[in-house]
Amino acid sequence: MGDKNKDDTSLNPKQRSRREFLENVGSTAAVASAVPVLGISSVQAQSDTEIAASKTTIQLIVNGDSHLVEVEDRWTLVEVLRDQLDLTGTKIGCDRSECGACTVIMNGKPVYSCSQLAVWTDGAQITTVEGLASGGQLSPVQQAFVENNGPQCGFCTPGQLMTATALLRNNSTPNAREVKEALVGNLCRCSNYNAIVEAVVMAGERSGGAA
Ligand code: FES
Ligand code: FES
Repeated sequence: MGDKNKDDTSLNPKQRSRREFLENVGSTAAVASAVPVLGISSVQAQSDTEIAASKTTIQLIVNGDSHLVEVEDRWTLVEVLRDQLDLTGTKIGCDRSECGACTVIMNGKPVYSCSQLAVWTDGAQITTVEGLASGGQLSPVQQAFVENNGPQCGFCTPGQLMTATALLRNNSTPNAREVKEALVGNLCRCSNYNAIVEAVVMAGERSGGAA
């Protein structure tokens, strides 16, 4: 008998997924062909979606400078920093709260800027890696990174520096264990962890936490 369920179970997984794919394509095509019937061209439908993107004007104080920025409500803080304010020192690694490359200091705490919607940060005080050096002088922790070869490829370095800076502001002379605990959310693909920890300890010992 032409039992459809029987036929389906006799297919191997590859054949089944091919059938599902073709059935899905069929339904998508049916929806697409229905759009002109309803009097809406697909181009118009797309442009209506774009027009509908909701926007909000927010204020950010970044590295001491105030900015009024109109942001789409779906944009993350790191997108605004990099794409709207041209502060490209903050990096995007995983873009999903796993690597720490995007770390900035917000209202005194290190945060993953890939995981903060920009609209949530209205009125926030933000420090990015561009705000660490002052008067042409590297900050103590930046200087210690240089002296200890903290950066290898350097991609994780801005995030490491921001977490280390936040730590040193709260604990002026952290020991190696405390540094490791603070930096646990900042991954280094080059695996240069020993040098990074030594640099942060050195920065604390030298400056008494004047990060
Ligand atoms: S890019 Fe934000 S945590 Fe990885
Ligand atoms: S220095 Fe390359 S990822 Fe850390």
